[in-house]
Amino acid sequence: MGILIVGANGATGVNLVKQILKNGRQVKVIVRPSSKIPNTWNKNNQVSVIRRNINEISLEEMIEYVKDCHAVASCLGHNLSFKGIYGKPRKLVTEAVNLICDAVIKNAPEVPVKFVLMNTAGNQNRDLNEPITFKEKMIIGAIRLLLPPHTDNEEAADYLRKKVGKKNSSIRWVVVRPDSLINLEKVTEYTVHNSPTRSAIFNPGKTSRINVGDFMAKLIVSKNEWNKWEGEMPVIYNME
Ligand SMILES: NC(=O)c1ccc[n+]([C@@H]2O[C@H](COP(=O)([O-])OP(=O)(O)OC[C@H]3O[C@@H](n4cnc5c(N)ncnc54)[C@H](OP(=O)(O)O)[C@@H]3O)[C@@H](O)[C@H]2O)c1
Repeated sequence: MGILIVGANGATGVNLVKQILKNGRQVKVIVRPSSKIPNTWNKNNQVSVIRRNINEISLEEMIEYVKDCHAVASCLGHNLSFKGIYGKPRKLVTEAVNLICDAVIKNAPEVPVKFVLMNTAGNQNRDLNEPITFKEKMIIGAIRLLLPPHTDNEEAADYLRKKVGKKNSSIRWVVVRPDSLINLEKVTEYTVHNSPTRSAIFNPGKTSRINVGDFMAKLIVSKNEWNKWEGEMPVIYNME
């Protein structure tokens, strides 16, 4: 059984793939026909690369991709260009989550498939009634209007939280919420919390992409880590 990763060639995704491969697991990645991928993937028989636009994949096709997977992870995100932010597909992440979940559910696996979704500390876990101030509410409202990728992230997490739910017999999930992303070469100490411990708007913390990859990989390969966070939206910060 393998692990399907979308957004695998992105700055965080490559770190996740690296950590999973270190664990000796099989990885299947879906990348765009035009995506750049690390050279090492072509020579590694633990990696199979599917070159397809995720928004053009049919349900029947996705059913085949997820059939032999016990876990799925998404590090998808809109490119930080005008086209990436305001162009199509506007619901890149939400639609991918929806498609993958539909495919997993159609396969009716005997053991629920784990879904780990990369999200953002700027999104609240509405199951926990996370408090935000009036000023933050106003700014988040403006971000929703001006930056469609934020709404996409919110809706993708809501899809798992509300549509899939916590008791689904085919899928169990964790939504990982990093704060401002930075690049570091090595995994460093990090802390993981049920809810943000600081304001993502007025006092954001830092999270290195390599630490996000490390945590997402741990969720997939470690039973303990999974059991601790299943159905939650953990927030991850680098230790200061
Ligand atoms: N920036 C922050 O501080 C921050 C903080 C918290 C959370 N986040 C979230 O984390 C996400 C991932 O961050 P990152 O830095 O790892 O992003 P990234 O390097 O831009 O990676 C994004 C991934 O999504 C893929 N992608 C983009 N548009 C696509 C499309 N139309 N169809 C298929 N695949 C597409 C990219 O593939 P290609 O190589 O083909 O483009 C790439 O694999 C962000 O987008 C954001 O939602 C960001």
